[in-house]
Amino acid sequence: MVQDWIDKKPTAHNWKAFFNSIIQMHDNEQQEASSAAITKTVATNNNDREEQWEEQLRLALREGGLFLCDVNNDESLVSFDFDPPPQFDMIYSSLCLEVCKTVEHFKQTIKRLERLLKPGGLLLVNGVTNKSYYHVGNKIIYSLSISAKQVSQAFEDAGITDNLKFISKPRKPNLKCDDCEGLYTIFAFKPSK
Ligand SMILES: C[S@@+](CC[C@H](N)C(=O)[O-])C[C@H]1O[C@@H](n2cnc3c(N)ncnc32)[C@H](O)[C@@H]1O
Repeated sequence: MVQDWIDKKPTAHNWKAFFNSIIQMHDNEQQEASSAAITKTVATNNNDREEQWEEQLRLALREGGLFLCDVNNDESLVSFDFDPPPQFDMIYSSLCLEVCKTVEHFKQTIKRLERLLKPGGLLLVNGVTNKSYYHVGNKIIYSLSISAKQVSQAFEDAGITDNLKFISKPRKPNLKCDDCEGLYTIFAFKPSK
């Protein structure tokens, strides 16, 4: 699926809504940090920016490669054909770490991700707090129930602590597809040596 998007196949999933929501979040953050006037100027070019962001990510994935990741694989979290494994400038995970079986397993996974980061590298994780299941159609899917505090603690225990930031957002009311408390984004840098 991701490879099709990198290759710009006509059948590839359309990620525009996702990129636009990230740009919106970025703008909101900028607005808090700087004057509203600057943000207004930037926001007029949203279409161009969305395409630019997509292109930048395509380029990063073409240059850096695409690897399979399985949190349940005890041998190797990420499948590489080479030894020693590469180290990354940035690792991003979105709504995947809820497949961890326990909070301890989640913490171990963050530690394993830390080992794959270069010094100064960024770990960025999107997830949900205190969600134990979600529905896809009639199917009920297990999800690790983890609190905001436990997620932050996992980053701290793994030593990914520089500029650590945890942003939470309450879930939309009246949704019946899961029992989640809210969404979160957490990021921090591995200290440089
Ligand atoms: C709720 S979807 C999230 C999809 C997408 N990343 C997003 O943010 O919309 C959960 C994802 O977890 C991933 N996943 C399932 N089992 C996994 C495992 N053992 N290790 C790593 N990722 C897994 C699958 O790729 C699946 O698409």
